Amino acid sequence: MDDADSVQRSGARNRFWIVAALVVGVVLAGYLIADWYQTVPDNVERSFVGRESCVACHQEQADLFYGSHHDLAMDVATKETVLADFDGQQIEHFGITSRVFMDGERFMVNTEGPDGLMHDYEVKFVFGVTPLQQYMVELDGPRTSQVSLESNTGNKTFAPLGRVQVLRLSWDTNNKKWFYLSPPDVDEKIDPTDPLHWTGITQSWNASCAECHSTNVRKNFDPLSRKYSTTFSEIDVSCEACHGPGSLHVELAEQKKKLSDFLQMGLDSGEAQDMTLEEFGGWMTRVIKEAR
Ligand code: HEC
Ligand code: HEC
Ligand code: HEC
Repeated sequence: MDDADSVQRSGARNRFWIVAALVVGVVLAGYLIADWYQTVPDNVERSFVGRESCVACHQEQADLFYGSHHDLAMDVATKETVLADFDGQQIEHFGITSRVFMDGERFMVNTEGPDGLMHDYEVKFVFGVTPLQQYMVELDGPRTSQVSLESNTGNKTFAPLGRVQVLRLSWDTNNKKWFYLSPPDVDEKIDPTDPLHWTGITQSWNASCAECHSTNVRKNFDPLSRKYSTTFSEIDVSCEACHGPGSLHVELAEQKKKLSDFLQMGLDSGEAQDMTLEEFGGWMTRVIKEAR
């Protein structure tokens, strides 16, 4: 082996290492930039963004969700959502005769109130679709109507709700008839002062039901005035009720999408020039040679 030969070979070896180092450097820098681009500072708080933000990328899950019991967990009482007949029927239970009827467009119940006297109440919300539907009455208005909702979803927005109670008078959706939903093991008239009465704490939507049946529920109970101003970001059990607030996920997924769209654009433009992978390799080699 003569000297010139070995000099040439070690030169080739050096060039190989320089190119390899360059390639590793470029890949590493690319990775770091991508990584930086795809992260957010860890002091950023996650917030609720609403189902519309999810649908864009998760159409399949959204299709499964729409119309499901989770989607229909709660609703405003309207002709479309109320399943029961409000046709003047009377329902007797342990000496109390309640009456369900319409007042124009309003769904009404005349029944025993917290004071033991009969009153008219407007049904504002429905709960569930099958095998039963329950009906809710707002007993006290909210503490204040100034609290703004945590909703930035563009959904129907709701003013904060005051004390909402769930009637025990319920609709059997299979047999299409009214029935009185007794608490387990109670076989007598429930006194209006009893916590089990429909106006009592056990039938309080704010305290006993809302958390599981809507998304991002804030009870907002004010112990001084003893009033609620309960809010939610979505009336039903929506995506973020189970998956948690999605703002960061959406932000990161969108950045990732931009990055992959960008890479795809690169590939597409390569394709547009009708380059095969081999031709692309050859082109790269030429670029590197010319650069040296
Ligand atoms: C810009 C597109 C985009 C949006 C908007 C988006 N996601 Fe995703 N999501 C993705 C991608 C991509 C994945 C797969 C991520 C992966 O495999 O690392 C994913 C994965 C998930 C997963 C599965 C996670 C796992 O560990 O397997 C859940 C759950 C999810 N998303 C929920 C949501 C919810 C809820 C919303 C709305 C608040 C939402 N996504 C909005 C793109 C999106
Ligand atoms: C700990 C969570 C939780 C609480 C609290 C809760 N529920 Fe539920 N509720 C559920 C779950 C989960 C289902 C679905 C269960 C099933 O289908 O067997 C359900 C189903 C229902 C249904 C049937 C809905 C349908 O069509 O699928 C009604 C009506 C209902 N609940 C009313 C209430 C009322 C009224 C309260 C408060 C007094 C309440 N729930 C409190 C979790 C809860
Ligand atoms: C009642 C709770 C609940 C609701 C509401 C819900 N999810 Fe899920 N989701 C789950 C669970 C649990 C899994 C895991 C399922 C599994 O591993 O098979 C899941 C899985 C997913 C996944 C991962 C892919 C998959 O199929 O396993 C995505 C994406 C997702 N959900 C998006 C959504 C979106 C978007 C919505 C609203 C339109 C939504 N989810 C509503 C509980 C829920």
